[in-house]
Amino acid sequence: MTMKSIATAPAKIILLGEHAVVYGQPSIAVPLLSLRVYAKVVPAPQGSGLCIVSNDIDNPELIITSFNQSSTHSFATAAHLLLDYLGKSLPDVKIVLRSDIPVASGLGSGAAVITALIRGLLIVLGASLSDDIVNSFVYETEKLFHGTPSGIDNTVIVYEEPVYFVRGHPIERLEIGRPFTLLIADTGISASTKKAVSDVRRLYDVNPPSIEGLFNSIGALVNAGRKAIEVGDYQSLGSIMNENQIILRNLTVSSAELDKLVQVARDAGALGAKLSGGGRGGNMIAVVEPENAVLVKSDLLDAGASHVYQTVVS
Ligand code: PMV
Repeated sequence: MTMKSIATAPAKIILLGEHAVVYGQPSIAVPLLSLRVYAKVVPAPQGSGLCIVSNDIDNPELIITSFNQSSTHSFATAAHLLLDYLGKSLPDVKIVLRSDIPVASGLGSGAAVITALIRGLLIVLGASLSDDIVNSFVYETEKLFHGTPSGIDNTVIVYEEPVYFVRGHPIERLEIGRPFTLLIADTGISASTKKAVSDVRRLYDVNPPSIEGLFNSIGALVNAGRKAIEVGDYQSLGSIMNENQIILRNLTVSSAELDKLVQVARDAGALGAKLSGGGRGGNMIAVVEPENAVLVKSDLLDAGASHVYQTVVS
């Protein structure tokens, strides 16, 4: 390898079904193709080892010169899994990761960074692997560093397709009846998905039948949402998102800031709105008529959203 090259992976957003998906219910998520992580591969001197530089202030630089010690860093774990699988030794190279995806905000930043890193390393190694294998490495890394992930983040991010996802089942691409517009508004508050997931686990352990009932209701909403998307009925999708939000509140994973943005979006004419991802902070999503997007976006910003992203799912 003599030239610089680049690999990339997108952000994702969960439309319906977060939290219940951890317990085997279906979930729907879509990639956010315009918001991405880039992994630039830069040649490095012989013997320098693998140097991974990132713009994440928590993980600014990691230099790996040997894999003899067990790794406590997700970058090293991912690199190790890949090199082991391919039977390759540590390359001398620098990988510069630049992520435009806010961390800890429900957009899958962790899985996207690892996906871009693995794809960058594949360029270095002159190897290519199926998305299935890349997905399994990203999932393994997620499991080690993020508690008990369902696998939906890595799946949407690696395949870059809207998916209907059930843990442990083959991935199903979601059919989109006609394109629809989403606004994604960031509360600006970072929140730990791991903590939210473990709090829901505690609720479940205290009263399994009652919480299971909520998960079942979410699963039914996801299936209804899938049908609405397949026929392009976004009025119904909006109502389904609103109902999903009520259950997420009952699961204690919403927050005052999320509730406020959800209400503002609905008052401005969104067809429906809910939190997305782990909750407690991070992002909310609203499905809107395209002609109403500017107004809803402006009201969300006026209400304190730190960013509003717009995307068309097709
Ligand atoms: O906060 P995010 O974007 O990582 O989404 C988490 C989604 C959960 O359903 C809460 C957890 C999971 O692993 O699926």
